[in-house]
Amino acid sequence: MARTAISPAPRTGAAKPKRPLDEARGHWLRAFRRVRAETEARASPLSAEDQIVQSMADASPTKWHRAHVTWFFEQFLLVVHDPSYKIFDQRFPFLFNSYYVAAGPRHARPQRGLITRPDGEDVTAYRAHVDAAVERLIEKVPEAEAERVFAIVEIGLHHEQQHQELLITDILHAFAQNPTDPAYDTEWQQPRATQGPRGYVEVPAGIHAIGHDGEGFSFDNETPLHDELIPHVRIARHLVTNAEWLEFIAAGGYATPALWLSDGWAAVQTEGWQAPGYWRLKDGTWQTMTLAGLKPVDPTVAVQHVSYYEAEAFARFAGKHLPSEAEWEVAARTNVIADAFGIAWQWTRSAYLHYPGYRAAEGALGEYNGKFMVSQMVLRGASLATPEGHARLSYRNFFYPPSRWQFSGLRLAEFV
Ligand SMILES: [Fe+2]
Repeated sequence: MARTAISPAPRTGAAKPKRPLDEARGHWLRAFRRVRAETEARASPLSAEDQIVQSMADASPTKWHRAHVTWFFEQFLLVVHDPSYKIFDQRFPFLFNSYYVAAGPRHARPQRGLITRPDGEDVTAYRAHVDAAVERLIEKVPEAEAERVFAIVEIGLHHEQQHQELLITDILHAFAQNPTDPAYDTEWQQPRATQGPRGYVEVPAGIHAIGHDGEGFSFDNETPLHDELIPHVRIARHLVTNAEWLEFIAAGGYATPALWLSDGWAAVQTEGWQAPGYWRLKDGTWQTMTLAGLKPVDPTVAVQHVSYYEAEAFARFAGKHLPSEAEWEVAARTNVIADAFGIAWQWTRSAYLHYPGYRAAEGALGEYNGKFMVSQMVLRGASLATPEGHARLSYRNFFYPPSRWQFSGLRLAEFV
């Protein structure tokens, strides 16, 4: 969970020269082993009991994550491209398909925590079976099919990295329901914000290319590259901190309906929100559940586990706005903001919609992103739980407005 350093991508759009086949096999083999090992490393501090718990419908058990990312390779790579491949267990596709309707029927998401069998050792054996088959395929695939196979390996690895982040956010949610406040890692420390001048910086106004330019990997929802008009707007250099959030609470932010969207105020009422997710008032001071267990709220670090509704209410309280995702992307590309990546995903005021000219991929993998483009909001950047090498300037994360179990925070913007 190291901090991710990212520099602006070159915007040339020039195609990279293709690797010789043997070099490509070695490259994908190493990448496959590295990412698969990271999943196991993230699961390793967790007991068998930890790994089966599902604390809410939105969160999945660690064991399910470990199996589902494996099913992804089995279903979309091995079944399609390896005629000799034998499905590990005929029951697994039903248990570990997430939402791919075209890939067949699947177990109900809210009941993933009830799957005590197959057990964790069965999932470990499943992973080993699929690992061996994928490695064999990478080493032996004929040249004519190699490009397609490596492309599916690549999306499978980025998919697995997304689940590595979810593994962490989901177990934190589970531990936060446990009265003994377990630690995922007793040594874990909150990432510190970059020091330096605070305040606002101008985003270069005008027409800017937004999205992924085709150089390297992207998910389909980052394409196509297209022009957007950026107004005269200034964006905060830094993320909003816990100290600022404490001011919002002290000023009655959670008790002032005029600050809230109608749906947001309804959520405050229904959920009883008085502070960010995982905050608890204990003996008059705020504590928060972290990966290291229950800790005092540190005023100097970036606020996390706030919903879109809370981010929007805070912006209104501060007399500011949330940036649009295009404003955020231009600011990050021009390197005028601190902590774009590595601490908290940042809510934007942009609805998660397709970019002009977007086309979902053919087949079941076309369900990956496109069918979720309604009723959700875009978050930009990356969090402390995002795996190394996964973040991008054009990356679009998305969640429903009330969600707050992710490492979600915000930075503000103001119109000039
Ligand atoms: Fe998935």
